[in-house]
Amino acid sequence: MRNFEYYNPTRLVFGKGTIAQLSDLVPTDSKILLLYGGGSIKANGVYEQVLAALQEFTVVEFGGIEPNPQFDTCMRAAEKVQHEGCDFLLAVGGGSVLDGCKFIAAASEYEGEDAWDILKKRAPVDAAIPLGAVLTLPATGSEMNAGSVISRESTSEKLFFGSDLVRPKFSILDPETTYSLPPVQTANGIIDAFVHVTEQYATYPAPNPLQDRQAEAILKTLVEEGPKALEEPRNYEARANIMWCATNALNGWLSLGVPTDWAAHVIGHELTALYGVDHGTSLAIVEPGVWEHQRERKKEKLLQYGERVWDITEGSERERIGKAISKTDLFFRSLGIGTKLGDHNIPDEACELVAKRLANRDTKIGEHADLGEKEVTEILRLRI
Ligand code: NZQ
Ligand code: ZN
Repeated sequence: MRNFEYYNPTRLVFGKGTIAQLSDLVPTDSKILLLYGGGSIKANGVYEQVLAALQEFTVVEFGGIEPNPQFDTCMRAAEKVQHEGCDFLLAVGGGSVLDGCKFIAAASEYEGEDAWDILKKRAPVDAAIPLGAVLTLPATGSEMNAGSVISRESTSEKLFFGSDLVRPKFSILDPETTYSLPPVQTANGIIDAFVHVTEQYATYPAPNPLQDRQAEAILKTLVEEGPKALEEPRNYEARANIMWCATNALNGWLSLGVPTDWAAHVIGHELTALYGVDHGTSLAIVEPGVWEHQRERKKEKLLQYGERVWDITEGSERERIGKAISKTDLFFRSLGIGTKLGDHNIPDEACELVAKRLANRDTKIGEHADLGEKEVTEILRLRI
């Protein structure tokens, strides 16, 4: 096991009716900027619950944070923070609103010339406005991690930054808020959580059996509960279990002391930036390709995954790995998400284009940090 350090101060408040606890969680006398997306919180009653809980506070609003939050929008919100003198940010929505909120928190306090440098040049974040969240879409783990991904339309870029200063002070997770999710977003969320786990698991033996079994527990739970939520959108237990899985998938636990991959994410972010495909969907396309391409180097873990998650015990090693990959692909498709580039009208040239963009940024990916332009092209070509 490798050395590690773990720090995760986010207070999680989980369960039915918990939005009412907001007034105890937001610091007294705060002037709050309430951030939300395109309006889903107004349609499903979450907005009313939030405002009812915050009656004693001064609340300013900023709506319209897009899926794959845009830099320009976030900068407008940061101006509002400064103009209004807000001292607490509350994100209400999915991962995009949370990520946008994290960037706004950092950009509002940024003293350099251009806050884009936080993403592009990984300029250090020295200060950030404190923030909290009410999560309505289980997927990203943003509710309990230090990461944020921001997009910029003018350059078709989608970039990550992380800072302990933007960890939510608290996150409220009420599974009932997810009843209104369109099936495609439920499916995207399940796949995103699934691939967060596999990125931290399907590498090479560390060995770290506790981490392995935690990862497998999340994967099996997603396989069992995911279809239930799609069949019965108001199944509380299924929604609750998916929500808890998604948080556990990317709150930092799984990567402690083990190698991590993240190739599917890096490639997937490019597909989203160039072709607008949803984040979870991009992973459903790419992850089976990464595994197929890297099947020899990931052999031990893919065999273990096949046996423990899908009960695959028969056949040669080659056959078992093949089955593990196809079961995964089939699972994603069973959730209603196409797993090939062509399913989303992404042209074949994407394979070379994505690989070149990453090469231009000198990005080498995978758990061995050695997959470059040639390998990325080959991985994507497997997904045409
Ligand atoms: O904008 P609104 O109207 O709220 O609608 C959203 C949006 O259209 C809708 N939605 C959310 N909750 C809903 C709902 N509709 C009905 N009922 C509800 N309860 O769903 C749509 C998608 O929302 P979005 O927030 O974009 O989805 P998601 O949570 O999947 O977030 C994706 C973003 O997170 C980033 C992705 O790259 C992408 O930009 N990620 C963030 C990570 C992190 N911070 O650690 C890690 C991830 O790997 C990922 O990269
Ligand atoms: Zn993800």
